[in-house]
Amino acid sequence: MSGPVIYWRDRILAFTPGESVAHALTRAGIAAFGPGPVGVPRAVFCGIGQCQMCLVQIDGRTVEACLTLCRDGLRVGPEQEINHD
Ligand code: FES
Repeated sequence: MSGPVIYWRDRILAFTPGESVAHALTRAGIAAFGPGPVGVPRAVFCGIGQCQMCLVQIDGRTVEACLTLCRDGLRVGPEQEINHD
């Protein structure tokens, strides 16, 4: 794969400069960003940084995927991993 990429768990996703993380994930078919509050998966809802439903972890920080622009090499994951223990 040539061009800039982000990483979602073990997947490599290409993005277009200026694209948000939420858009890149959704365009790649990733609609659920991990477990969210009250059993509802995290996903894009408002798209403008108000609802906090799209929170993800990027390089160890919790951020809104809809407000964060992709940068080459970003490592993105769920805000919380599902605990199966
Ligand atoms: S979708 Fe609402 S804060 Fe990102």
